[in-house]
Amino acid sequence: MKTAYKGYIIGGIVSVVLLWLLSLSTFHFLRMPGALHNGHETLACNECHEQAEGSFRQQIQANIRYLIGQRSTLASFNFVVPDNNDCLACHQREDDRHPVYRFNEPRFSEARKAVQAQFCVSCHQQHQGVMFTADAQNCRYCHKDMRLNDDPLTTSHQSLIKQKRWDSCLACHDFHGNHQMQIPITDDAMLDKKALSDYLAGKINSDPYAEKKLVSAKETRYEN
Ligand code: HEC
Ligand code: HEC
Ligand code: HEC
Ligand code: HEC
Ligand code: HEC
Repeated sequence: MKTAYKGYIIGGIVSVVLLWLLSLSTFHFLRMPGALHNGHETLACNECHEQAEGSFRQQIQANIRYLIGQRSTLASFNFVVPDNNDCLACHQREDDRHPVYRFNEPRFSEARKAVQAQFCVSCHQQHQGVMFTADAQNCRYCHKDMRLNDDPLTTSHQSLIKQKRWDSCLACHDFHGNHQMQIPITDDAMLDKKALSDYLAGKINSDPYAEKKLVSAKETRYEN
């Protein structure tokens, strides 16, 4: 009888400790994150979170040993939040129209506050199921003073900007310049709004700019 009670008490304490551990930030890895967007669904976690699967298992085992008293300290899960370099490991290419490193320049300090264009994840958070997670009209923070000498457009850039038509920019321009495409010059050649928003929302097979990209991303960062 007595030993049975002891079992309940120990069981209760262990559950409380486990719940407490789950609430710690080092244990975020045990939380189920949201879905990855198209193009990323097949990627292993460690393609972005630089960490081998094996070591993750070892860390869990180490923490179980801690819980049952066979280890004196908690093992850190060494959970690494990905940064630009993790994205660029597969997406690095020349001639990006808006390379992130540029936006560390002092003249972008205002734009940095508004857009944080120096980080990939400012516009492409992961685990949200969508491809683009920012404001699609954020061009206004950096291009409001632009002026083309010989503007080829039927409605000039200057008038578009005067009319605050910031929703038009992505209807003619891709952001990184990685599509094999002809940039439209007339209003009626602009991308269909629905096609564009489907693309930004990460709906597969709906890249409206072009079928082909100049450079495709690597499938894995661990091979040449
Ligand atoms: C394409 C890159 C990528 C892949 C693949 C990826 N992640 Fe992430 N993950 C991120 C980024 C970036 C963040 C940081 C949050 C953000 O800004 O989107 C993140 C955040 C997280 C977080 C923290 C969430 C929070 O709220 O604290 C967890 C947990 C996580 N990822 C687990 C995983 C697991 C498990 C896998 C594999 C099933 C995985 N990730 C695959 C990029 C990725
Ligand atoms: C292991 C390689 C790899 C890593 C790391 C990686 N990606 Fe990708 N990514 C791909 C592949 C492959 C595709 C699909 C093919 C393509 O778009 O060229 C893709 C597609 C994308 C797309 C376009 C999706 C679409 O709907 O067309 C975006 C945006 C993107 N990645 C952003 C990121 C960001 C931001 C990170 C860092 C958090 C990242 N990627 C990390 C391989 C990677
Ligand atoms: C200020 C916002 C912003 C930032 C920062 C940003 N992107 Fe994008 N990205 C976009 C927009 C808007 C699109 C959709 C238009 C297009 O396809 O170019 C896009 C599309 C993409 C695509 C799909 C088209 C392509 O170029 O192949 C990939 C991949 C991508 N981004 C990767 C990245 C990576 C990697 C970084 C960081 C090095 C990054 N992005 C930073 C806004 C951003
Ligand atoms: C954080 C600032 C910033 C944001 C936000 C931004 N841009 Fe730019 N953009 C730049 C800079 C800087 C250049 C390079 C200009 C130069 O070299 O003189 C540029 C260049 C361009 C070019 C010309 C590229 C070329 O090769 O001639 C286009 C087109 C463009 N941006 C479109 C956009 C669109 C569309 C958006 C919104 C979706 C946008 N930009 C958002 C800063 C920004
Ligand atoms: C109807 C299509 C269309 C729309 C809408 C449009 N552009 Fe353009 N844009 C063009 C074309 C065409 C060029 C000239 C392209 C070239 O020769 O490189 C251009 C050139 C540019 C350049 C390069 C300027 C330079 O000095 O070379 C930037 C930056 C730019 N656009 C930003 C924007 C922004 C920001 C918006 C939204 C207010 C916008 N565009 C709306 C078609 C468009």
